[in-house]
Amino acid sequence: MKCKITGKKIIPFMSFGKMPIANGFLNKNDFKKEFFYELKVGFSEKFSLFQLDEYPSIKKMFHKNYPFYTSSSNYMIKHFKEYANWSKKYLNSKSKIIELGSNDGTFLKNFKNTNIEAIGFEPSKNVSDIAKKKGIKSINRFFNLENISDLKDFKTNTDLICGANVVCHIPDLINLFNTVDKLLSKDGVFVFEEPYLGSVYEKNSYDQIYDEHIYIFSGVAISKIAAEFDLKLIDLIPQSTHGGSMRYVVCRKNSKKSQSKNVNKIISYEKKINLDNSQFCKNFKNNCEISKKNLKKKLIELKNQNKKICGYAATSKSTTVLNYCNIGPEIIDFITDTTPEKIGKYSPGSHIPIIDHKLFLKEKPDVSVLFAWNHAKEIMNKEKIYKFNGGKWLTFFPRVKVW
Ligand code: TYD
Repeated sequence: MKCKITGKKIIPFMSFGKMPIANGFLNKNDFKKEFFYELKVGFSEKFSLFQLDEYPSIKKMFHKNYPFYTSSSNYMIKHFKEYANWSKKYLNSKSKIIELGSNDGTFLKNFKNTNIEAIGFEPSKNVSDIAKKKGIKSINRFFNLENISDLKDFKTNTDLICGANVVCHIPDLINLFNTVDKLLSKDGVFVFEEPYLGSVYEKNSYDQIYDEHIYIFSGVAISKIAAEFDLKLIDLIPQSTHGGSMRYVVCRKNSKKSQSKNVNKIISYEKKINLDNSQFCKNFKNNCEISKKNLKKKLIELKNQNKKICGYAATSKSTTVLNYCNIGPEIIDFITDTTPEKIGKYSPGSHIPIIDHKLFLKEKPDVSVLFAWNHAKEIMNKEKIYKFNGGKWLTFFPRVKVW
């Protein structure tokens, strides 16, 4: 494989095997023509960058029926409100904002009824249309150099360019950073929060690795990449979202903005656990293999006891777990989910039926595998009756646990 920034050869250190599109929920009659690729990962020493080898074309991933709505989680709605409030320290009443991957407008909605001019770039039409209905200026395109020519007022005049769970989806980081350079004001900031390599490694949450997550960033990686584009990393703020994310704050190299103490603190920690070099990769690979063995063993044990096993939430992350561990409908009877686009379909690759979450209690599963483990708090609050009636949860990070 080639490093996506330097173009230099990297040897992948691990394969998760044949993978379908993580969000490619499908109908029965589409099983035969399902698309697969090999999910392999590698590490660029130069940029300390954890990256996928092969990945499907981005048009296969973000399209008119993209089945993910930011607003499907109440916790995420709250999170984006707090993110918007926090970002106001970089804004004045006449500032301009651009959000990348603005989805259904959950973040930008917080700037309605202000004088701030905010626009979102959202390549998936269905979610972009929902944002428009909320009165948000949502441009149904990818954020790149080719798509900003008509944004004259925003050129070198945007105080905040931001995103959440989006930069790691963008294959061409060179084009991305050059686009940011064209738009960012002299003292503006580029802020993004993404699943964090430190959390993935610590929790062994390898399910963050799937087609859409072309990179898993760390502080050290972003500081090196930013420097390459005459930018500097001025803050690192850990987030609890997506099972452990990091908010990166980047500005122009010659901006007067000072660097928070967090940057050196977090980067020193990353160096201590070898996230800046490929030494951690071997451990990570071993941990994934152990996790796979233990999860499979536990599920087979439960199935042999005739337990009815369900998956809770048909997340993109679960596509990696189910396919890497070879778990199908012979083990997990069904997965419940709240997303209309997923209900009635089958999980990618593993072909487990997805049923409406409304049937969760009626189906009385003995054990529910919590695929949306990152939303555990919200889900436990919601599903007290399930537990009260004797239902058990199965979680698998950092280790397999039935409770
Ligand atoms: P998320 O962890 O954000 O998914 P991904 O791995 O794709 O980033 O979870 C979103 C999915 O989980 C979505 O399909 C809706 C589903 N979900 C439920 O079904 N019930 C819930 O209570 C929550 C929070 C999510």
